[in-house]
Amino acid sequence: MRKKVTKAIFPVAGLGTRFLPATKSVPKEIMTLVDRPLVQYAIDEARAAGIKEFIFVTSRGKGALEDYFDHAPALEQELRRKNKTKLLEILKSTNMDSGEIAYVRQHKALGLGHAVWCARRLIANEPFAVILPDDVIAAEKPCLQQMVEAYEETGGNIVAAMEVPPEKAGAYGVLDVAEDMGPVVSVKGMVEKPKAEEAPSNLAVIGRYILTPSVLQNLNRMKQGAGGEIQLTDAIAADIEAGNPVFGYRFRGQRFDCGSKAGFLQATVAFALARDDLREELWQYLNEIVQVDKAAQ
Ligand code: G1P
Repeated sequence: MRKKVTKAIFPVAGLGTRFLPATKSVPKEIMTLVDRPLVQYAIDEARAAGIKEFIFVTSRGKGALEDYFDHAPALEQELRRKNKTKLLEILKSTNMDSGEIAYVRQHKALGLGHAVWCARRLIANEPFAVILPDDVIAAEKPCLQQMVEAYEETGGNIVAAMEVPPEKAGAYGVLDVAEDMGPVVSVKGMVEKPKAEEAPSNLAVIGRYILTPSVLQNLNRMKQGAGGEIQLTDAIAADIEAGNPVFGYRFRGQRFDCGSKAGFLQATVAFALARDDLREELWQYLNEIVQVDKAAQ
C-alpha cells in the first residue's frame, strides 16, 4: 500500500505585483472570484483529495490569510442572532480546526523551489501535494483528486500538465516526454521557462504536484535556475536523474491563470455563469455588450 497523501503546501509568499495597487494591502490569494477568495478554491480542492494538513508558505503582509481561516466569533454570533443560517454554513467552510493549518515564513523571495523547501520540516518523510492557488481549475472531479487517484497507480512524482500553444511554453515548466500513455505521460526531463527553440514539448506544468520527499532533499542543494530563482522544476528534474519516476498528468478540467488579469477576469465570468443566482443576469449583460459591439462594427 502506498502512503496516503495527507499534507499539502500552498506557496503564497508572492508579492502579487501584477495586481497592484490592490495587493498593496490585500494578499493576492484573498482576491475574490465572485465571492470566494482564490485560496478557498485551493483549500476545497485539497480537502476533496483527502488532504488533512494545510501548510502555507507566507511572507510579510499576509496576515489577512491567517484571519481568513480563523473563527470569527463576533461575526458568527451576530449572524446567529439574526438567524442567518445559510451564511453561517458558508462561514463554516472557511474555518480550520486547530492544528490543521500551519504557516511557515519564506524570509526571502528566492523562488518556488525555495518556498516549498521552507516547509520541509513539516513534511518530513511523506509524499505531499503542492497547490499554487493562482492556477484555478474548474473540473467535475477536482484536479488534485484526479492526480491522487493516478498516483495510487503510478507512485513517484506527478505534475499536472496541459498542452499550451508553442509560443506560450516559455512561461511554464515544460516536460520532456519519454512515453505518452494517454492522460499519464512519463517524463525524462523538465525545463523551467525555456526559450522557444529549446522547449522540449508543448506540455506545460500547471500548479498541482504530488511529490516524494526526495524532491525536498534535492532542494537542499539546488542552485539558482531560470530567472535567478530556485526552481521546483529543477528539483523534480533532479529526481529523474536519481532514478525516481516523474509523470505528467493531463487533468480533465479548465485551468484559469489567475496570476494574470485577463485570466482572473475570465475565471470570474466562468464561475459567475456557473452560479444559479447570477447566471441569468450576467448572461443577459454579456449578450447586450456583444450586440452593442457588433452594431458598432
Ligand atoms: C510556476 C512554475 C512553473 C509552472 C507554473 C504554472 O511558474 O515555476 O513551472 O509551469 O507555475 O502556473 P510561475 O507562474 O510562478 O512563474
